[in-house]
Amino acid sequence: MIIHVYPNAKTLAQAAATLLAAQITGKPGSVLGLATGSSPVATYQELIRLFQEKAVDFSQATTFNLDEYVSLPISHPCSYHAFMQVQLFDHVNFKASNLPDGNAKDLNRECRRYDAAIQRAGGIDLQLLGIGRNGHIGFNEPADSFSAGTQIVNLTDSTIQANKRFFPSEREVPRQAISMGIGTIMSARKIMLLATGEDKAEAVRGMVKGNVTPRLPASILHFHHRVTLLLDEGAASKI
Ligand code: GLP
Repeated sequence: MIIHVYPNAKTLAQAAATLLAAQITGKPGSVLGLATGSSPVATYQELIRLFQEKAVDFSQATTFNLDEYVSLPISHPCSYHAFMQVQLFDHVNFKASNLPDGNAKDLNRECRRYDAAIQRAGGIDLQLLGIGRNGHIGFNEPADSFSAGTQIVNLTDSTIQANKRFFPSEREVPRQAISMGIGTIMSARKIMLLATGEDKAEAVRGMVKGNVTPRLPASILHFHHRVTLLLDEGAASKI
């Protein structure tokens, strides 16, 4: 793991956006794996700025997002479809953007379709990740074993508590999601994980210093050859 520590979230976002833009410049037809949550928002703002300044062009690039809630209409402002539209896709020019369909009639089939679509696109060149307070990546929650492909997951109480801030009330937070599996994430050629703030410090410590265990899903990243962690001082405070 390569670890970079930045003085604050702003400088971290500038660095992350520069790395993403460099990926696109080096390979305009890149396939990017994108993430939701608050961690990548400032990075997306930097990418939009670079695009407006004509420093990067996404017109040949394709994206696949990590996850989507189950049974939440995509028009709902808290859906990850809506989030990505507002935070990034409305402002840049990707050739195509994909998210799992959490409203598919046959969710298992949708999981298989999503993995096949990633494969058909040539696989993910660079996957962007955040990390949950319990060490989850995508929506792969602590478990007894690591998941393989895209799957339906039951959200843990800690994730529901963490994500309720985006919803009018806790009751409205969906209890399930479709998420790329650990195997899907590990198939990406490069991985870049962003973490900011002291409330991520314990999960970051477990990921960096602890054993590889499905009880802390992000720990699997030790087995990937090209992982870069971008941390601010708060997130890095326990390593
Ligand atoms: C969500 C997302 C993850 C994200 C995590 C952390 O549950 N599914 O992809 O990394 O939460 O979110 P945040 O960046 O808001 O702390």
